[in-house]
Amino acid sequence: MCGIVGYTGKQKAAPFILEGLKRLEYRGYDSAGVAVQEKGGLKLAKKTGRVANLEQEAAKHRLTGTCGIGHTRWATHGGVTDANAHPHVSSDGQIAVVHNGVIENFDSIKKFLLGKGFTFRSETDTEALGNLIAYHYAKEPAANGESRLLNSVRKTLRHVEGTYGIVVLSIDSPGELVCARRGSPLILGLGEGENLVASDVSAIVSRTQSVVYLKDGELARLTPVDFAISTVNEGEIEPVIDQITWSIDAADLGTHTHYMEKEIFEQPAALENAMRGRFSEDGSTAQFGGLNLTPAEFRQVDRFMFCACGTAWHACLVTEHLIERFARVPVEVDYASEFRYRNAPLHPHTLFFVISQSGETIDTLAALREAKRKGYRALAINNVVGSSIAREADGGIYQHVGPEIGVASTKAFTSQLLLGAMMALYIGRMRDMSFSDGLNYVQALKGAPDLVRRVLTQAGHIKAVAARYAGYNDMLFLGRLSLFPIALEGALKLKEISYIHAAGYPAAEMKHGPIAMISERCPSVFFVTKGEMFSKVISSMQEVKARHGRIIAIATEGLELPAGLCDELITIPDCHEAVLPIVATIPVQLLSYYIALERGCDVDKPRNLAKSVTVE
Ligand code: M6R
Repeated sequence: MCGIVGYTGKQKAAPFILEGLKRLEYRGYDSAGVAVQEKGGLKLAKKTGRVANLEQEAAKHRLTGTCGIGHTRWATHGGVTDANAHPHVSSDGQIAVVHNGVIENFDSIKKFLLGKGFTFRSETDTEALGNLIAYHYAKEPAANGESRLLNSVRKTLRHVEGTYGIVVLSIDSPGELVCARRGSPLILGLGEGENLVASDVSAIVSRTQSVVYLKDGELARLTPVDFAISTVNEGEIEPVIDQITWSIDAADLGTHTHYMEKEIFEQPAALENAMRGRFSEDGSTAQFGGLNLTPAEFRQVDRFMFCACGTAWHACLVTEHLIERFARVPVEVDYASEFRYRNAPLHPHTLFFVISQSGETIDTLAALREAKRKGYRALAINNVVGSSIAREADGGIYQHVGPEIGVASTKAFTSQLLLGAMMALYIGRMRDMSFSDGLNYVQALKGAPDLVRRVLTQAGHIKAVAARYAGYNDMLFLGRLSLFPIALEGALKLKEISYIHAAGYPAAEMKHGPIAMISERCPSVFFVTKGEMFSKVISSMQEVKARHGRIIAIATEGLELPAGLCDELITIPDCHEAVLPIVATIPVQLLSYYIALERGCDVDKPRNLAKSVTVE
């Protein structure tokens, strides 16, 4: 949520900052801005809309300075206006700041500062922060051997309640940036004769792969040749330097039109990466390196609790189904946003899990902290290496699918499904799953990438189906057992990128209410597969047909469906239950993508959304 970039070095700061902001645009795209230290003072360019608008605006300002900060915004306090765009400059013109997060006591800070003669131009909480830094800066001795800017930021943060990732510069401290984090990610990039800071590695990976992940409560001071980390209350601390293992190419569009398209088609490779090295030598179970639990400790667990938000919550639901089905251990699933407040009683031997692509979703992070506070061991399934959730969890499993840029989650979701299925296998094999069932299960999972490839070859057909359904305003998605969460996911995908109202239900629930929606104006997508649910799903489809509803069936290859029952047929290969949810997801991703394209929607940056939600 919101993107931050800062640069100090020998080269012009603005081109790098603008390039970085483009890479971060998926984090927020209401407005963007850049501030650069110039010989004559500070130069500032801000514009509502996309970074492309800012680029045009910045060109008018001839930004040549070598130290600057930039921001792309997802509005929280104050509307989408040029004035509310970041950076914000203090009313004395001394300090510029960019900020992610929410300053909860900004009202009282503002009242205090108004009394001291500071003025305000925006409706944002951030401006109060910038003015408070300027207030302390003015009182700070100019030359006592310490950084005046660092000291004033430190003093300011002692009075601030809420969450922040900030980068600050002062007009009379050339080449110096000060940053701090509490609740919003910041990563330092260490270069040759230049240092960088960003809210996401994708903005800096083109310049350096050496990074420091700032922790909550830490500040950093950057100059072109040096950096130092300290805390809000104390002196310097030893930094831990990490190396990013992927290159900038992984975050490029390549030959694709949209990131969402690229990420849908990357799924076979993403699944291969997620499972690599994670099967036992005898080929009958899964193995995970980072759980930080011995098999004996794992064996003691008699209940699991999974929490997440959005698409990742759907992955929890599928995982619940598979663990209960194959390992026969009870699983509970909750929305992270609810769990964090509802003080749920947890069974004593519960192992707590969160699932999060970004590892920064604030509700999921808070749920993890709540479980840990209660003394539970809390693990994470997470994609972004070094994220807050990855660092705070007691252990976990990285998804290893590379950067996911499209706001609508695709490859991260199917890899979460895969890892959930592997977790079910791991637990099942510790309990009653036989060696030969384990072997079959592993073979099935290894075959998943090829099955997904097969479904992807139907993209042309699904595109043609999409063209016939892009004009509808409502749609239902219906599935049973492990495909009920995929129905939810199909509905979410369609809603978020095409703005068609859609809802997912267990197919049999339809007759308890949603059936009232059915008419020739509300089509339904049904998942219909071989097995015990086949005839029951067919009955639900008949009920829709009887009410003139159109039906798109996503059905197992070779199934004999009653003649004339479905209007459209998309087939998926017959496969193991553990792989079915993965394979069944691909058609709904493609359907949503092509419908959104037909409707002229911006699929990678849907309205009102941001890739990772770091505010409540
Ligand atoms: O980064 P996370 O997995 O924690 O994100 C959770 C949700 O915000 C996310 O899945 C959201 O629902 C996506 N836009 C879905 O496509």
